[in-house]
Amino acid sequence: MSESMKVLLVVEDDEGLQRQLKWAYDGYQVVCAGDRQAAIDALRAHEPAVVTLDLGLPPDPDGTDEGFATLAEILRLKPDTKVIVATGHGARESALKAIGMGAYDFYKKPVDIDELGLIVARAFHLHEIEEENRRLESGGAATVLGSIITAAPEMLKVARTIERVASADVSVMLLGASGTGKELLARAVHEMSGRKGQFVAINCAAIPENLLEAELFGYERGAFTGAVKSNVGKIELAEGGTLFLDEVGDIPLALQVKLLRFLQERMIERIGGRQPIAVDTRIVCATHQDLDAMTADGRFREDLYYRLAEIVVKIPSLAERSGDSVLLARHFANRFSRELNPGVQSLSADAVDAVDAYAWPGNVRELENRIKRAVIMADGKTLTAADLDLPGAAPQGQEMPINLRAAREVADRKAIRQAMSRTENNISGAAKLLGISRPTLYDLLKQYRLSA
Ligand SMILES: Nc1ncnc2c1ncn2[C@@H]1O[C@H](COP(=O)(O)OP(=O)(O)OP(=O)(O)O)[C@@H](O)[C@H]1O
Ligand SMILES: [Mg+2]
Repeated sequence: MSESMKVLLVVEDDEGLQRQLKWAYDGYQVVCAGDRQAAIDALRAHEPAVVTLDLGLPPDPDGTDEGFATLAEILRLKPDTKVIVATGHGARESALKAIGMGAYDFYKKPVDIDELGLIVARAFHLHEIEEENRRLESGGAATVLGSIITAAPEMLKVARTIERVASADVSVMLLGASGTGKELLARAVHEMSGRKGQFVAINCAAIPENLLEAELFGYERGAFTGAVKSNVGKIELAEGGTLFLDEVGDIPLALQVKLLRFLQERMIERIGGRQPIAVDTRIVCATHQDLDAMTADGRFREDLYYRLAEIVVKIPSLAERSGDSVLLARHFANRFSRELNPGVQSLSADAVDAVDAYAWPGNVRELENRIKRAVIMADGKTLTAADLDLPGAAPQGQEMPINLRAAREVADRKAIRQAMSRTENNISGAAKLLGISRPTLYDLLKQYRLSA
């Protein structure tokens, strides 16, 4: 996936400092501007999400008027820009004024590259979340194939494949961990196929071996004890439509032979039946098992495998779909609050952070259940991190301290914990997310007594 670099606009008249920042923040495309006009031009040209702004700009490098005028103009043109203001002398007053005008944060000169790097990384992160919010509120293009919610390139690729193969007469095998949406995608294949018959699903792992054959192929009256009347199997039921064979790896070998014969000849025989019956049923199957290994050691017939897997679609886990956990959390929160607890109107910022930081081993199903429970439990207007009760979340009731140094530490710890969790404790990856160097991250981990 090629993603263009995030643009950081640095408004700063000191060319030495410009160079230094450019060099230090090589994870961003750093664009520099030396005065108000250049800043506005760059804002229009690059639409940066984050701007650092020195208040002392020419023609008034020792005052703050020009800086404040620039701040006001940036926020008038692009109100969602995160502006981080640099203050020199008289710092406190101008910092407070800037925040009052709508600046995101401030830092004191002389610049501490690492500290500013953290603020910048957080600003980008917040901007992204807010943007996702806006996109969702405006009913943006988050839904594909009618029912699948995603904005992640990894998943959009899967959706495009499904779209392309749906109308072709090929068998589709969906591979994905539990809760990744296998059944939803199987349904999408059916719906986009234009086939007029039903979508029928059967979970091969949930049905006892001795009953599976009857379920799939049906039986005639008197075929076995208890067969008091004849019964149509799922394959016939899906005539003209699609049969979804879930957990296909669990089909016993004896039945695999029978299934293969159906796939080759498009004919079935009910148990106890005398006549072969022609059926036009499309097969989509899914499994979370490693069928390659199973064919290698003889637990799954290779010829059946090739019949079932003309097209193999690998469904990424939720953790592999960038940004989707938050997107889906909002979707489910909206849906369940409408259905179960209309008082709940939004997710709090800490809930969004918690959703974003958690790894979701049970994928979309786990997320859906977690949000549903939280909506039922919530007693306020917003869904909080406490309502979600996710493992590894920060202790609740932790108010932001008033003291700036302490506040920054709380925020730093949170950002670091999230970056570490999201990268599964990969120092390089976490450092990159945070926009700092590896040694700096090591120092911070030590300083805050966080462990890698
Ligand atoms: N991308 C998505 N957008 C919206 N809802 C989704 C998405 N993916 C999954 N879901 C929902 O999550 C739940 C689990 O999906 P589904 O049953 O399709 O997954 P699965 O892979 O078959 O899971 P399992 O292995 O548990 O059977 C369903 O309620 C489904 O509607
Ligand atoms: Mg399923």
